[in-house]
Amino acid sequence: MYRTKTCGELRLANVGETVTLAGWVQRTRKMGGMTFVDMRDRYGITQVVFEAPHCSPAAGELSGNETSPTGGLQGAANALGREYVIQVTGTVSERSNKNKNLPTGDIEIIATELKVLNASVTPPFTIEDQSDGGDDLRMKYRYLDLRRTPVRRNLELRHRMTMEVRRYLDSLGFLEIETPMLIGSTPEGARDFVVPSRMNPGQFYALPQSPQTLKQLLMVSGMDRYFQIVKCFRDEDLRADRQPEFTQIDCEMSFVTQEDILQTFEGMAKHLFRELRGIELEGAFPRMTWADAMKYYGSDKPDTRFGMRFVELKDVFAQAPGFSVFDEAKYIGGICATGQAVYTRKQLDQLTDFVKRPQIGAKGLVYARVQEDGSVKSSVDKFYGPEVLNVLKEKMNAQPGDLILILCGDDAMKTRKQLCELRLEMGARMGLRDKNQFSLLWVIDFPMFEWSEEEGRLMATHHPFTHPKDEDIPLLDTDPAAVRADAYDMVCNGVEVGGGSIRIHDPELQDKMFRILGFTEERAQEQFGFLMNAFKYGAPPHGGLAYGLDRWVSLFAGLDSIRDCIAFPKNNSGRDVMLDAPARLEQKQLDELYLKIDLPQE
Ligand code: AMO
Repeated sequence: MYRTKTCGELRLANVGETVTLAGWVQRTRKMGGMTFVDMRDRYGITQVVFEAPHCSPAAGELSGNETSPTGGLQGAANALGREYVIQVTGTVSERSNKNKNLPTGDIEIIATELKVLNASVTPPFTIEDQSDGGDDLRMKYRYLDLRRTPVRRNLELRHRMTMEVRRYLDSLGFLEIETPMLIGSTPEGARDFVVPSRMNPGQFYALPQSPQTLKQLLMVSGMDRYFQIVKCFRDEDLRADRQPEFTQIDCEMSFVTQEDILQTFEGMAKHLFRELRGIELEGAFPRMTWADAMKYYGSDKPDTRFGMRFVELKDVFAQAPGFSVFDEAKYIGGICATGQAVYTRKQLDQLTDFVKRPQIGAKGLVYARVQEDGSVKSSVDKFYGPEVLNVLKEKMNAQPGDLILILCGDDAMKTRKQLCELRLEMGARMGLRDKNQFSLLWVIDFPMFEWSEEEGRLMATHHPFTHPKDEDIPLLDTDPAAVRADAYDMVCNGVEVGGGSIRIHDPELQDKMFRILGFTEERAQEQFGFLMNAFKYGAPPHGGLAYGLDRWVSLFAGLDSIRDCIAFPKNNSGRDVMLDAPARLEQKQLDELYLKIDLPQE
């Protein structure tokens, strides 16, 4: 037996027991006649004491060239390097100097035997909660990074979450069914990762962006309730909450309305909060239409942990024309930052620089402070008298001590998005985005289509299988851009944690949708013929949703990036720096696949 106990389980109750532990050397400290070794495994850290006078090694107890038998057991302990793998036998003893920060901090092991199971070269960074390794180094040696407690905890949480997901869905009769990874293209709006087929020269599989069409086929098969914890692949630009390869909790249900789906998955969110965070979420989650989310928050995933909703101000400033920037703007919107009139000129200049950054792109920032006497001092005082500024104050519901921040622009949607960034920045500065506070809501009634400048045509906002709202179906012929969909996203703290829709199950309506999306009949047939065909054989009404597992775990763990809850993630350029992938193929492999690489000249 390599061990009788783990490094995380010994307590005062075990004092006097003889135990054997196995694990890694976290650190060694020499103090007079004693050497202390902190021994680590997945379960914790235990202090081991090697006392020179009390114990001498029996023959054969030391192994490996790295230890030095000349100094006895303590000498061998002194020769241990960081991350050596060792096996220690000894007696559990009460510590005189207890460590309250460690669950095992009341005890230590007085060692009687030490065996080096494997040596280690010096690791490239310290394997402690706070490591001295930078991001790149830790990614390159991810297997060492995973030895660190905070990172390991994220994976443990991820495991517990998938267990709870399975428990919840199983209790509702969902079947876990695997779908293939080598499929044809699935239209989810991103680019596909493709895989060449040796047996079908010149042809490619695509890795699923999601199992969307397959889960719909499973509904045609009568599976009724499907789920899968599944890898999805999207070749898109990366952000903190996006990886090219990520995991969905993918679900589909038959004979359901949107209401049934929202209830089922709201139930799952509540279950996860209860089981994993000990938080009881009371009542139904608020529902906000997409139109309101854009109007009041400038985002389809509003962070509702705090207010600061947008107020439209065009009519306020139209009373007194003269400031051409406002006169010519199509949209003027403001937010009220409670108690922030104390902002100095320098801080306001910083905020102005913030909104003018190319990623945000506002032209400038107008501000107004409400003074203690209720009067308003603004950066546009020379254009507007106290009457207009008072109306502004009232419209913004601003109180003495508040700061009003205003953006304007030619394009209402663009300006709202800029104001959204400013609102989030102010929320962060004002400490209103507490990672331990959770605000969940459904955003519903998404537009069916959005205009793509790149493609010069309408694109499906969600995907082409989404059902339009019944009352908007007539608009498909007259004003498709105004059609709303039976589509919904769950949002938590400004993060889209899941999304789904009711699907079209009527082949004629699906045909029409493809036409509006600019598919010729041949192309629709070529890409989705299998689905259209299946729908001819009695497709039940159905709908579903997919949660982003990585996003849920990082929310629960309070992480800034989903990378930290993925065992082996990609970096921001989509590379696995540990495996050094992607990489070139050998000529032999290319030849087998009839592939020629034709890179443009540098
Ligand atoms: P959607 O594209 O909205 O819907 O994806 C569902 C959820 O998956 C997560 N997600 C991601 N997480 C990490 N990295 C990414 N690159 C990434 N992209 C998406 C998000 C998102 O809410 N087939 C539909 C679902 C359906 O209609 O049932 C779909 O994939 O949390």
